[in-house]
Amino acid sequence: MKAHLRDESHTNALGVSLARALLPGLSIHLHGDLGAGKTALTRALLHAAGHAGTVKSPTYTLSEPYRVTLDGQPVDVIHYDLYRMGSPEEFLDTGFREDFDGHNICIVEWPEKAEGVLPPPDLRVTLSVAGDGRDVELQAFSALGLSCLQRLHFPQIL
Ligand SMILES: Nc1ncnc2c1ncn2[C@@H]1O[C@H](COP(=O)(O)OP(=O)(O)O)[C@@H](O)[C@H]1O
Ligand SMILES: [Mg+2]
Repeated sequence: MKAHLRDESHTNALGVSLARALLPGLSIHLHGDLGAGKTALTRALLHAAGHAGTVKSPTYTLSEPYRVTLDGQPVDVIHYDLYRMGSPEEFLDTGFREDFDGHNICIVEWPEKAEGVLPPPDLRVTLSVAGDGRDVELQAFSALGLSCLQRLHFPQIL
């Protein structure tokens, strides 16, 4: 599934659509260069999922947990930014791998940094600069990811 995000309002709209399509246990990998909009998308998603506070890029902490309610059930959404991770082993040492337990929703910026130790995604989102806007591609890699994509109603989809 591909779309063009003309400006940041489209990125936010995709975040809202994704928030509505979330399912417990979902693991989402966000690919794209610095400034592609990975954090912006995650921020919009978390706010739409009901998180009222700020959403900072977890640049130094590498991970930041949020608690949201999905269909009346509390679910932890954990946002990672692995850009500054020194080696894939660090992902294991920090205990991050245990977060991927089939219940938490894990959203990972810079999954490349934990290659080999990061569980495979249910959904891959690839953002790239295109003119003044961004192109986005969403790909499912599991039944759960496919369910999420089927639940996704995003008006800008090409
Ligand atoms: N669709 C879009 N078109 C143009 N600019 C966008 C779009 N979506 C987000 N942006 C801008 O791009 C930047 C993305 O930054 P950020 O989300 O921190 O990127 P990343 O986390 O991928 O490094 C922000 O300045 C944001 O305002
Ligand atoms: Mg970021």
